Amino acid sequence: MHVELFEQLEFKENPLYERVIDDLLDKGYSIVDDFFPIDVVNGLRNDLLEKYEEDHFKKAAIGNFINEVVKTEIRGDFILWMDETKINDSQNKFFEHINDLAAYLNKTCFLGILRKEFHYALYPEGKFYKRHLDTFQNDDRRKLSVVCYLNEDDWKPEDGGELVLYLNDAGKEVAKTVYPLPGRAVIFESQVLEHEVKPAKRERLSITGWLKTR
Ligand code: OGA
Ligand code: MN
Repeated sequence: MHVELFEQLEFKENPLYERVIDDLLDKGYSIVDDFFPIDVVNGLRNDLLEKYEEDHFKKAAIGNFINEVVKTEIRGDFILWMDETKINDSQNKFFEHINDLAAYLNKTCFLGILRKEFHYALYPEGKFYKRHLDTFQNDDRRKLSVVCYLNEDDWKPEDGGELVLYLNDAGKEVAKTVYPLPGRAVIFESQVLEHEVKPAKRERLSITGWLKTR
């Protein structure tokens, strides 16, 4: 009893996270610009590019470990899973932010997020990811998808690579376009929101991940 009271006193409302929660409840997605400070974005971008040049990435597949297949007509990005235990400074800051958000969501919304998985992604010029849902037929543990963009700050609409979210507005489909701007995070309900990545006209860098239940 005393412990509970103490925890309640300690709890500090975070206006940014409150907005994310309101957005998710209202619309099923939230877009947060400057979720990551630019020095963290730059550090993550350098880390991604270094590991890509060292050939640590693999062609992204669809399906999970039971039915994984590479289908470049569906998605053409290269990915590298991030390991939270073997990290450098910028990855550390990245996971600090993510863990902080997850803890807040658990505390305020009882989401029961106990696991997470994140990967770097690089879309070479011309590559895309066709319309899809982020869940597997044999696994529904992914609750929230989190996409974070690591592009340079000169990304222009002509560079393509936009994320399109397919929303349901009172029975009518509405497409919401999101440009992959550095520091921007997009959070959405993995089991509900269909989305796609339009062909990138230049190399496109990001981190995508999922907050999951047990
Ligand atoms: C994904 C995905 C969106 C993006 O990796 O599943 O949909 O904007 N990514 O990179
Ligand atoms: Mn997706």
